[in-house]
Amino acid sequence: MYNRGVMRVVLLGPPGVGKGTQAGRLCARFGLLHISTGDMLRAEVAAGSELGLAAKAKMDAGDLVPDDIIIGMVENKIRALDGGCLFDGFPRTLEQAQALDASAAKPDFVAELDLDDDAIVERMSGRLWHPASGRVYHTRFAPPQTPGKDDATSEPLARRADDEEETVRSRLAVYRKQTLPLSEYYSAAAAVNENAARYFRVSGAMPPDEVAAAIIAGLGKTL
Ligand code: AP5
Repeated sequence: MYNRGVMRVVLLGPPGVGKGTQAGRLCARFGLLHISTGDMLRAEVAAGSELGLAAKAKMDAGDLVPDDIIIGMVENKIRALDGGCLFDGFPRTLEQAQALDASAAKPDFVAELDLDDDAIVERMSGRLWHPASGRVYHTRFAPPQTPGKDDATSEPLARRADDEEETVRSRLAVYRKQTLPLSEYYSAAAAVNENAARYFRVSGAMPPDEVAAAIIAGLGKTL
């Protein structure tokens, strides 16, 4: 059931701005469940499930996976939810945002991160990730302790198939067309409705700890 005492946060922002990086910090700090639709889809692709097969071509091309698939996946998570949560990479369309607002996990806060396109391409070109956990590194900005190895498990790190510059530029175009309108959706709702999610923006251009501190301040909390 909807419970005002439990914090539910949406992290909004373009691909590569640092949503996953900040999600790790915020979930650890506040005991939130991390709900990343990108991680869920990559797990389905790795498992070779029907859903994964349906999603893979869209993901490889940098396009969005259809709303009905995404909303169904997130509804399953929300049904099992027992506490606060953080949505990372969801919602991405107006239809997804409306479905979330109508659910038992209506968000309390929407934090939007922004960064210019060239910095985003640079971040994606150096990104490494640990497929089993979703942990994210960067060859220059957040290197693992041992090159190419996950800090916790020493397992090999991988490049994401959708991190090539051409695909990143397509993902940015898709973001502007289909997801950027959510800034207006949330900011307009916050301006007229005191029960709507509180909306605020943070620059993603700062070092990760400073971005985290700014988000935490926006949530009205302290480090
Ligand atoms: P998804 O996995 O959600 O990708 P995304 O939103 O495009 O975001 P990323 O995961 O690429 O980046 P991020 O913002 O998390 O940045 P990160 O922290 O990794 O989605 C993938 C695909 O799945 C989509 O294209 C779509 O096909 C599909 N999909 C997913 N959700 C969907 C939905 N709701 N609807 C429809 N389709 C959906 O950081 C990036 C790099 O920068 C890292 O190397 C990191 O170390 C580094 N870095 C982070 N912060 C900083 C900093 N402050 N300074 C320097 N470097 C930094």
